[in-house]
Amino acid sequence: MKWQYKTTTPEATRHLGEKLGHIFKPLSGIVYLTGDLGAGKTAITQGIVKGMGITAQVTSPTFALVNEYGDKSIKVVHMDLYRLLDFDELEEIGFDDFLRDGSIILVEWPDLLIENRYEPLAALSLSRVEGEDDSRIINLKTEDASLIERVKQLG
Ligand SMILES: Nc1ncnc2c1ncn2[C@@H]1O[C@H](COP(=O)(O)OP(=O)(O)OP(=O)(O)O)[C@@H](O)[C@H]1O
Ligand SMILES: [Mg+2]
Repeated sequence: MKWQYKTTTPEATRHLGEKLGHIFKPLSGIVYLTGDLGAGKTAITQGIVKGMGITAQVTSPTFALVNEYGDKSIKVVHMDLYRLLDFDELEEIGFDDFLRDGSIILVEWPDLLIENRYEPLAALSLSRVEGEDDSRIINLKTEDASLIERVKQLG
């Protein structure tokens, strides 16, 4: 199932993320974030984290590979696997533990997970619009019918 949305400012992308964060809050699983460099994967993550009720300065985990936000009651994991060399490295940073924790795991550049057939809760893809510097088309794909119903209510 698929749902599409267009934003015309970075703030609108963060705002959409916030609404998605409300929806993701009681759920767990991997959320794939795909799109070119600068597409807005980190921007939408900032909104999602906020929408999950977590107050934190969300920065790109490009060098750290993984950032964790929240506490025991509500946790979100934000990963950027752009620099990840192989699957062993993913195990070293404790990916399986994150999965077991039952939190939401937001993953930028998830190619290695896709190759290894990890089933995501949802996949968000962001793409630029030719001739519109500040516009992005955002697609959400999920197998979860109830999730898509709630997202559709966003309008
Ligand atoms: N509608 C929009 N939505 C999101 N970002 C936008 C939009 N219009 C312009 N931008 C700009 O695009 C950039 C998005 O940066 P961001 O770090 O979120 O990208 P990214 O997809 O995480 O890239 P990377 O792969 O390098 O991590 C920001 O500079 C932001 O201001
Ligand atoms: Mg990023």
